[in-house]
Amino acid sequence: MSGLSLAAVISERARAEYALRNLSGRLIQLQDEERRRLARELHDSTGQNLVVLQMNLAVLNQRFSRSDRESADLLVDSMGILDRVVKEIRTLSYLLYPPLLDEAGLPSALQWYIDGLVQRSGLTIDLRISSDVGRLSQELETAIFRIVQECLTNIHRHSGSSVARIALTTKRGQAILRIRDEGRGVRAQLLGDPAANPSSFGVGIRGITERVRELDGKLRIRNAMPGTIVEVILPLQREDSGGLKETPRNATRHRYRSSNSPGAER
Ligand SMILES: Nc1ncnc2c1ncn2[C@@H]1O[C@H](COP(=O)(O)OP(=O)(O)OP(=O)(O)O)[C@@H](O)[C@H]1O
Ligand SMILES: [Mg+2]
Repeated sequence: MSGLSLAAVISERARAEYALRNLSGRLIQLQDEERRRLARELHDSTGQNLVVLQMNLAVLNQRFSRSDRESADLLVDSMGILDRVVKEIRTLSYLLYPPLLDEAGLPSALQWYIDGLVQRSGLTIDLRISSDVGRLSQELETAIFRIVQECLTNIHRHSGSSVARIALTTKRGQAILRIRDEGRGVRAQLLGDPAANPSSFGVGIRGITERVRELDGKLRIRNAMPGTIVEVILPLQREDSGGLKETPRNATRHRYRSSNSPGAER
C-alpha cells in the first residue's frame, strides 16, 4: 500500500471513530431524555389514572359492604392489588428518572436511591458528599447519578462485598467520584482505563466509559485489596471552540451532610 493511501485509510478510520463516538454520546443523551419522558408519563398520567381508580373502588366498596359481602370482598382484594401496582409504578418512574435529581439535586437523589437499594439488597452503603459540592449542570448530575447506579449494581451482582463506599468531592474545577467495595476485585484485564480495552466489559462499564468521554473526564478502575475502586474525574466546566460549554447550575446551592440524610421521600 502506498504511503498516500495508508494516510487516507488512517484518516478515514479516525473520522469513523470520531463519528462513532459522537453517535454513542448522542445515544446516551437520547436515552436520558427518553427515560425522563417515560418517568414523567408514568407518574403524571398512569399514576394519576390509578389514583382515580383507587378512589372509585373505595366508593364502590362502601356501597357493596352494606348489601353484597361477596362483591365487597372481591373489591377489597382488587384494592390491595391496585395499591401494589400504584407503588410499583411510582418506584419504576422514580428509578427511570428520580424527580429529586431536578428538584433537590444530586445528594438527595443519590440518598433516595441508596435507601431503596439498601432495603432491596442488604448492602451497607456509605455516601459522603463534601459540603462544597453544590448544584452541578444537569448533564453532570445525571451522569454521576447513573454512574453510581451502575457501580452499585455491579457491586451487588459481582463483588460479593457487603459494603460500598461512595465519595464525591470537588477540587480545582473537577468533580471526583470514588466508588469502592471490599469484594473479590476485578480481573486484571479490567483494571486501568476501560476505554483501552472496551471489549472486556459489558454494557454497564462501557456506558460509564462513554458518559465520561462525553464529559471530557477520566475513568480508572483500580484494585483496592480487597475490592475494587472505580474513580471518575469530571471537569465542572468544559472548554469548547465557542468558549465554555457547560456552566454549573447554581440557582439553589444544596448543602448536604452524609450522616444526616435528607428526607428521602418514598
Ligand atoms: N465491583 C466489582 N467487583 C467485581 N467484579 C466486577 C465489579 N464490577 C464489575 N465487575 C466485573 O466486570 C464485568 C463487566 O461489568 P459491566 O458492568 O460492564 O457488565 P455486567 O455487569 O456483567 O453486565 P451489564 O451489561 O448488565 O452491566 C462484570 O461482568 C464483572 O465480572
Ligand atoms: Mg454492570
